[in-house]
Amino acid sequence: MARVALVTGGSRGIGAAISKALKAQGCTVAATYAGNDDAAAKFTEETGIKTYKWNAADYDASKAGIAQVEADLGPIDIVVANAGITRDAPFHKMSPEQWKEVIDTNLTGVFNTIHPVWPGMRERKFGRVVVISSINGQKGQFGQVNYAATKAGDIGIVRSLAQEGARFNITANAVCPGYIATEMVMAVPEKVREAIIGQIPAGRLGEPDEIARCVAFLVADEAGFVNGSTISANGAQFFA
Ligand code: CAA
Repeated sequence: MARVALVTGGSRGIGAAISKALKAQGCTVAATYAGNDDAAAKFTEETGIKTYKWNAADYDASKAGIAQVEADLGPIDIVVANAGITRDAPFHKMSPEQWKEVIDTNLTGVFNTIHPVWPGMRERKFGRVVVISSINGQKGQFGQVNYAATKAGDIGIVRSLAQEGARFNITANAVCPGYIATEMVMAVPEKVREAIIGQIPAGRLGEPDEIARCVAFLVADEAGFVNGSTISANGAQFFA
């Protein structure tokens, strides 16, 4: 039986590459998105991957959406909590709203995505959970107190879930991308971005496919003993 995989934020950027890689690996994939209907429709047309619209920051919407995915495709075996946003500002300028929006989406959103599928994984004694963290959760980043807090939190989540899930053959791991060529990184002011690229020994941004490769590895049936770990893919910019 094909494994059913849910990828939040799965129709654009790194998430789209993950959705496609899991499909190529034989999974039946559901990709969620929060707002961009056109991008989602185009993604489905190009890939044949079904998309679902809900806000990961909303627990009830996540629960209902996940129930719909399971009704359509069957029980979810693999969940990739990828949806994330930035609201960068130096701390002295960061508003409580910028703090809250990032916490709600990037951290509470991870809870909202995993919590509804967790009981089924325990019952069926199989599950693969991957959370997309970030290099900036490992090292911190000027202008990202909010984002770095959530991405460091992701690592705490998977290390704890790994211990709770292991006896049910559920793994939970994090992938920490470095700076990848996506809209999110392109939104960084050009001068700042060029300075960041100068700090990457690879001398370039990463590609979304290079992150998808890590996820494809972690969710395989054969990866059952890799649990609570963090894979860094950052062009040698930082070693955790
Ligand atoms: N280290 C030290 N100083 C820095 C700095 C840095 N990394 N970045 C900026 N500064 C300094 C500037 O030189 C400037 O100093 P002066 O006042 O002496 O000139 C000051 O900080 C900038 O202050 P501003 O008040 O002008 O800052 P701003 O309001 O324009 O905000 C910023 C700046 C939004 C933080 C901007 O620097 C920025 O966007 N930085 C990039 C943050 C970043 O890396 N985001 C990652 C996005 S991609 C992502 O998140 C994906 C992933 O997982 C990797």
